[in-house]
Amino acid sequence: VSLFGLNTLGVSATARYYIEVKSLDDLHRALAWAQNRGCKTLVLGSGSNLVFSGDVDGLVIHMQIPGRYWEQVDETGATLVLGAGENWHQAVLYAAGAGYRGIENLALIPGTAGAAPVQNIGAYGVELCDTLVSVTALDRESGQTLRLDNAACDFTYRDSVFKRSPGRYIITEIRLRLSPTTPLQLGYRELEDYLESAASKELTALKVAEAVIAIRRRKLPDPETIPNAGSFFKNPVVPVAQFKDIQSLYPKVVGHPYNGAIKLAAAWLIDQCGWKGYRNSRVGVHSRQALVLINHAGGSGHEVLELAAAIRASVQSRFGVTLEMEPGVVGT
Ligand code: EPU
Repeated sequence: VSLFGLNTLGVSATARYYIEVKSLDDLHRALAWAQNRGCKTLVLGSGSNLVFSGDVDGLVIHMQIPGRYWEQVDETGATLVLGAGENWHQAVLYAAGAGYRGIENLALIPGTAGAAPVQNIGAYGVELCDTLVSVTALDRESGQTLRLDNAACDFTYRDSVFKRSPGRYIITEIRLRLSPTTPLQLGYRELEDYLESAASKELTALKVAEAVIAIRRRKLPDPETIPNAGSFFKNPVVPVAQFKDIQSLYPKVVGHPYNGAIKLAAAWLIDQCGWKGYRNSRVGVHSRQALVLINHAGGSGHEVLELAAAIRASVQSRFGVTLEMEPGVVGT
């Protein structure tokens, strides 16, 4: 089965077996089927944060569990319940359209609701963990379906218990607490500038979502037309002393305080090494955001990873900073 349409990087790869899962029952059946054959499994949302480095010699479980409803609606807010297969961006528009605030800054992030907690998606000053109440997941170690509360998910920047223990949990549903009155998060410079220039009088969650959509469209390539997997590296966190050393050599280095350390803009480091807009015959670096690698013309996962390694090496040698990849690598 071809996985070409199942990864936004547009890499050609195949799966030995493939199944679409639309319910918890489907999921149990798929897992039992794989177990009976001693076959490995790979759980996939919409493939927007992974690189196929080869074929998948096992069963690809394509999570499509639907569901979108409100619970615990009261004067303080409401809890949005999303099945793992729900499209994230549509969920943002749905919540913002209903006047509920909390995830509007996360508009246009590709992927499914079930994948969102894995890397604790974040943008424009907001992270999923700010509103997430719980994640319902099948724990493959115990065979039980659990509800992990926010603390149990152990979220940090682009990381969670789900990412740190690959294969253990299969997320089936998530719950977010949203509110019509919580303050809008407008502190991210670009968002602030955009909204000022738009001179919006009365801001709503939907208007903020629209602003985020416009900003993202301006600089991030649409995976539908230019295959990519979003930011290819995490923004590296370095000790303050190291930041000061870099700053003494490169006064324009971009960094922000983060948990007593400094989170550097990986895009700036990559840009300084001259990679922005680079392209070889098949893969390259986006011309408006150096953190995004793109697959122009049917490049393989290996070609993308080779380019990533070259970028990593040049950032390491110039700045002494190690970049960590953001998407997962799968396949043989
Ligand atoms: N910059 C450059 N060159 C570039 C691009 C950016 O020097 O080519 C500089 C900018 O001047 C800016 C800084 O780098 O000062 C940061 O850039 P930006 O605001 O675009 O954000 P980012 O740190 O590169 C992160 C997330 C994005 C998210 C944006 C907005 C990570 C790994 N990436 O990017 O998330 O949309 O902030 O909040 O944290 C993703 O994860 O796939 C993703 C797109």
